Amino acid sequence: MSPAGPDPAWLAALAENLACRQRLGFHLVEGSPDGLASLAAGLNPRQSASAPRNPKPGVKDAPSAGPEDFSHAGGGLAQVRAAMGECVRCPLHEGRRHIVFGKGAESAELMFIGEGPGAEEDRLGEPFVGRAGRLLDKMLAAVGLTMDRVYITNIVKCRPPQNRDPQAGEVEACRPFLAGQIKAVSPRIICALGRPAAKALLGGDAPISAIRGNWHSYQGVPLLPTFHPAYLLRSPERKGQAYQDLKALARALEQGPPEV
Ligand code: URA
Repeated sequence: MSPAGPDPAWLAALAENLACRQRLGFHLVEGSPDGLASLAAGLNPRQSASAPRNPKPGVKDAPSAGPEDFSHAGGGLAQVRAAMGECVRCPLHEGRRHIVFGKGAESAELMFIGEGPGAEEDRLGEPFVGRAGRLLDKMLAAVGLTMDRVYITNIVKCRPPQNRDPQAGEVEACRPFLAGQIKAVSPRIICALGRPAAKALLGGDAPISAIRGNWHSYQGVPLLPTFHPAYLLRSPERKGQAYQDLKALARALEQGPPEV
């Protein structure tokens, strides 16, 4: 700590992180949600006169809607994105070029949730635009699913270094925004792409090969896990099973999802 006290940006990130944890039901320290929210807002580096920790030339600060706002009923995707701001809540912000929020239709019936942005996604600010994304596009086309019926995002919105799996703290820091996206889109069906996404949404730590193709529930929404397209690029012998899963998703949209 410097003689002048802790870095205000670090304090703001800590306060927001604690507020997020409180909303998730973790009460590690005593403090009212309002107190933590106002601490976060009061110390928010975007509102402070000091230089931001991660300045980005040409990037306009999104207005801070405050950590609570998007959780209210009726909050749309724009509100969730605004609440995220130029996020510094976990260390992944240090290496990112862009926050990769999501793409597709706000009224989508089907939501795909992957792991985290790769190099191309980080460069362009859009999820699933690299090799894995091109395979996902082909898989969607193969079962007749068009982008107007789909929304695509990841469990973390900033690229993990060397494309490693997102760590638990990173997933938790991003979780309120993923939850906000799910609430805003309100899909009929969710598809978790790969083990980290399935683990983040369902808990447990089962291998994806053990749970894929079976229907689960995410807070009452039917969820089907399948292989991540990046895994399919390395293990093409699994593409047949992934195709079966995509067909099951398309069928569930037409005939109604199963009871979960
Ligand atoms: N892999 C993911 O999990 N997400 C992306 O956006 C791209 C690759």
